[in-house]
Amino acid sequence: MALLEILHYPDKRLRKIAKPVACVDETIRTLVDNMFETMYAAPGVGLAATQVDFHQQVIVMDISVEKNQPLCLINPTITKAEGTEVSDEGCLSVPDIYEAVERAARVSVSALNQQGETFTLDADELLAVCIQHEIDHLKGKLFVDYLSSLKLQRVKKRLLKARRARL
Ligand code: NI
Repeated sequence: MALLEILHYPDKRLRKIAKPVACVDETIRTLVDNMFETMYAAPGVGLAATQVDFHQQVIVMDISVEKNQPLCLINPTITKAEGTEVSDEGCLSVPDIYEAVERAARVSVSALNQQGETFTLDADELLAVCIQHEIDHLKGKLFVDYLSSLKLQRVKKRLLKARRARL
């Protein structure tokens, strides 16, 4: 396995639209393994292929405290979305920034697993947020896109400061 480089906002490659995976083969399975390793090492609860500059529809997640419930979604589609909920979100591509975002409270998603088999999943709370956040990545969308322009300006300033501090 290998750690992959995570792209950081405002890298333009984060705006690419991911294509559906045509065939869940060894290349995809290796990517999934490397994405899990990269996500756990970060550490984060979710990672989309877009964030590691691979533009096919692959997501890995693990929202468990023990980090023992890996979940992989290939070609995910939200088939149902209900209610609204606001929660603070962060993103491995936007380090150290946490902002409130409104999402659907409950979603149903259909996807392929690492073996290429179709499955469906009903999610609420953090898992529902995570699924919507990661699917957004595949569409070239970031959680900061939901912020008001004033809040976004503040976020950009904080990111610039953090980058300077790391020099
Ligand atoms: Ni993210």
